[in-house]
Amino acid sequence: MFPTTTVSFIQFQKVFLATVFILSQYSAIGGRDVTYLEKGEKQPLKIENVLTWDSLGKQHQSRPNELDVGFEFHFQNRTDKEVRITNAYTSCGCTVAKLPKTPWIIKPGQKGSIPIIMDLRGKTGIIAKETTVITNLGNITLTTKVSVGPTNSPSGPDRARSTEERAANLRLAAKNRQAVFQNNCIECHVKPTIGKRGKQLYATACGICHDAKNRAPFVTELRALSKGKDKAYWNTWIADSKPGSLMPAFAKKHGGILDDSQIKSLVAYLTRIFPRELKTKKAVKAAANTRALPLK
Ligand code: HEC
Ligand code: HEC
Repeated sequence: MFPTTTVSFIQFQKVFLATVFILSQYSAIGGRDVTYLEKGEKQPLKIENVLTWDSLGKQHQSRPNELDVGFEFHFQNRTDKEVRITNAYTSCGCTVAKLPKTPWIIKPGQKGSIPIIMDLRGKTGIIAKETTVITNLGNITLTTKVSVGPTNSPSGPDRARSTEERAANLRLAAKNRQAVFQNNCIECHVKPTIGKRGKQLYATACGICHDAKNRAPFVTELRALSKGKDKAYWNTWIADSKPGSLMPAFAKKHGGILDDSQIKSLVAYLTRIFPRELKTKKAVKAAANTRALPLK
């Protein structure tokens, strides 16, 4: 009696583990086998991939009104060679990996960690993002996954706007290009930008118009024209824009929402990183997907 029970329990356990394994395969990005650690959960470093990691995937169930989720990936260099981390690319502007000054040299035995922050504004459902860390010995893909409950954006930036509402917004903007910073426009065009800098500021302040999936035809495709544009070009457009256009002027002196230091962080991102992002396959694909559709 006793041995039979043990056997069937082991069989049950095998089937159960296989099911869990299959499910986790399905949920991994691109079918890669990622075992997710809950955000904040501690595990000894054991995953070998150029460096030795605690995990290559981390996940989190967001709480209501949680707008930014920070993950931390821990690693150690268990090789006898120096590892040089030269860059980190993320699959969307809503995800930022923070590296110290690059090249970041990791000596044999040295430990470190990479913080990755995901911006959940306007997101619902399960969002999985990849961060590719580039080293001289090869690349490492770190995946972060958050399930966002419906409470996060019942009326947030992602709520659907009717054609009429969009057209009415447009009429207001045509009369006053600074209208986006006023009244109920702030819900989508201002609030998500608060406290942001660089890439995340671009995604929330600029990407909302310039990278929109159904971008209006008169909104310029910035990624395609970004190569070779200097700091003055970006600074002028962001701070002052052009009177008579639909592009808002972001400087405070024009009634905009950005201070000098935020504008500087945008210019640095747009001159140094933005044009290069187009070179990554994902960015090219993303740019190609933001086809301009005519306004109805
Ligand atoms: C619920 C979120 C939301 C609100 C509120 C909102 N916008 Fe927008 N706006 C967007 C999004 C998203 C886009 C990008 C185009 C798209 O996806 O419809 C956009 C694009 C625009 C554009 C570029 C032209 C276009 O239609 O694509 C202008 C101009 C604009 N908004 C002005 C305004 C003004 C003025 C207000 C307030 C009267 C406003 N918006 C309120 C979300 C919003
Ligand atoms: C409300 C929608 C909206 C937002 C938000 C917005 N833009 Fe624009 N932008 C436009 C429109 C419309 C144009 C086309 C202006 C024209 O040529 O009349 C434009 C034009 C530009 C141009 C000029 C491109 C050229 O023709 O050389 C630049 C550069 C630019 N935007 C950068 C930005 C940056 C950077 C941000 C964020 C700080 C931003 N925009 C935010 C709507 C927007």
